[in-house]
Amino acid sequence: MKHAAISWWQEGILYQIYPRSFQDSNGDGIGDISGIISRLPYLRYLGIDAIWLSPIFPSPMADFGYDISNYLGVDPIFGTLDDFDTLVAAAHASNLKVILDLVPNHTSDQHPWFIESRSSRDNPKRDWYLWREPRADGTAPNNWMSEFGGSAWSYDAGATQYYYHAFLREQSDLNWRNPAVRQAIYDVMRFWLQRGIDGFRVDVLWHLIKDSEFRDNPPNSNFLPGRPPHEALLPLYSTDRPEMLDVVTEMRRVVDEFSDRVLIGEIYLPVDRLVAYYGKDLSGAHLPFNFALLSVPWNARAIAMLIDDYERALPAAAWPNWVLGNHDRPRVASRVGHAQARVAAMLLLTLRGTPTLYYGDEIGMQQVAIAQDQVRDPFEKNVPGIGVGRDGCRTPMQWNGEAHGGFTTGEPWLPLADDYACENVASLSADTRSVLNLYRALIELRKATPELVTGSYAPVAATGDLLAYRREYEGNTLLIVLNLGADPISIGSDVMAFPGEILLSTNLDLTGETACGGLDLGGNEGLIIRLR
Ligand code: GLC
Repeated sequence: MKHAAISWWQEGILYQIYPRSFQDSNGDGIGDISGIISRLPYLRYLGIDAIWLSPIFPSPMADFGYDISNYLGVDPIFGTLDDFDTLVAAAHASNLKVILDLVPNHTSDQHPWFIESRSSRDNPKRDWYLWREPRADGTAPNNWMSEFGGSAWSYDAGATQYYYHAFLREQSDLNWRNPAVRQAIYDVMRFWLQRGIDGFRVDVLWHLIKDSEFRDNPPNSNFLPGRPPHEALLPLYSTDRPEMLDVVTEMRRVVDEFSDRVLIGEIYLPVDRLVAYYGKDLSGAHLPFNFALLSVPWNARAIAMLIDDYERALPAAAWPNWVLGNHDRPRVASRVGHAQARVAAMLLLTLRGTPTLYYGDEIGMQQVAIAQDQVRDPFEKNVPGIGVGRDGCRTPMQWNGEAHGGFTTGEPWLPLADDYACENVASLSADTRSVLNLYRALIELRKATPELVTGSYAPVAATGDLLAYRREYEGNTLLIVLNLGADPISIGSDVMAFPGEILLSTNLDLTGETACGGLDLGGNEGLIIRLR
C-alpha cells in the first residue's frame, strides 16, 4: 500500500530497542550495535518500519545512558561510530528507519561542559547550567524535588552554589534559556541527521525550560502515600513552561533542514497539555508521545473515554500516536495479563495514529522480578520498595531456548525471565497461534489496509467489557470489537448492523469467517471485521 500524501512516520510502525538488552555480540553481557545489526532480519520478519534506540552515546551509565558525557560519539560498550554507520546503512538497506534518543534536558556531570561550568563562577560555561545561591540558612534554593528522590538541588562546595538536576545529581540540567546551549544542542542534532538518521525521540521534552524566578512548587493535595516522593509537589514551575513552545518550534526547524525526518517528544502530561507540543499550526513535534495507554485502568469504558478525549483534543490535521510500553513502565503483559495483552496488541494496531511497540512485548515478555542484590536502576535504589524499579521491563530479549535466551554468551547485565526457555522468538515463531504471530498478522494487516492507517475513527456505543469502533476509508468500513473481560459477549445488531467478514481474531482462528447479524465474542477476544 502506498500513501503518497503521508509520511513514513505516519503510516509506519515504530519499535523501541533498549540497546543494552537487545542482543550482545561480544559476550560482555550487554547488548550492542553489532548485535542489533545481526537482528535486523528479525525486525523485517516482524514487519516494523523504524527502530528507536535508547541512548548509545558515551556515558558513565549512572542512568544507563540518559547521562551523556559526549553527544557526538558512541559508548564503547555499544561499539563505535563506524558500527553505528554500518547499522544505519544496513537498516536503510532493509527499509528500516533509525531514530535516536536526544537527551537535551541534562548532561552527565562528567560532560566537559559541566566540568567547565562547575570549575568557577566566572567560567564562560557557568550559565550553561542552572546555578543558584543557597537560601539564607544554607539550604537549597527552592523546594523542587528530583524525580529520582530527594532535593533536585545539589550543593557544590567548590563553587558554594547549588545546581539543579531534575533526575540524578549526576544528571545536571542545562540552562535552555541560554541561546548558546540551544545552538550547541541543535548542532548535535545536525551531526546525527547528517549521518543519515531519520529523526529523534526527545527525552523529557516538557522539562527543558524552568520558571525564570525559580518559584516554589505548590503541594499536591492529591498525593497518595506509596507514590514516588516528588509527586508530593505539583511541578508547576519546574516543567511545561509557556516558553517551551518556542524551543519545540526551533527543534522542529532543525529537523526540517533535512528532508523526511521526524521529531518525537517524550511528554508525560494530561492530554490537553500534551497536544500543545504539536506547536502552533503544527510547527512543533510531529508526534508528542501519547502514553495514555500506559496508565489507564484496563477496562473498556476507561479506554473508550481516553480514546475519545485524545481524538477530541488533537488539533486539526495533527497526527495521533499510541504507545503500549517503554523502558520506564511495567511490561504490558504484566500490567494487563497475557490474555489481555493480545487484545492490547489489536487495540494498538487498529487505533488511528502511529503505533510504538517496545521490544519484547511482541513475545509477551513479562515484568521480571529483580532480587534486591541485582537491582541496577538508580530510581529503585534511591526510592526503594514502592515498585518504581525499571529493571524488570529492561531484561534481555528472549531469542531462543539456549543459555541466557541467546542474548549473550556471557553473564547478562540483568537476569532473564524464568520462562525464557519456552517464551522466546524461536519457539513462538513456530507456534502459529502465538502472540508473536498475532503481532505479525496485525502488522501485516495494518500495512495492507488503508482503513487502519489513514481511515477515520468513530466510536461505536457499547457497554460493559465491550470496546468497539469503526475505521473508515473511501467508503469501506472496518469494525473492531474488543472484549476487555474474560466472559463471552454477544454482539447484537446495535453494534454490528451489517454482515461482515472476519479479517483477524486475536485467537488467530476465525479468519475468513462471515459474521451475520451479530456474533459471539469470546472472553479476552478481539476481532477485526470488514463490514459489507
Ligand atoms: C526519560 C527516560 C528515562 C530517564 C529519564 C531521565 O524519562 O525515558 O529512562 O531515566 O528521562 O533522563
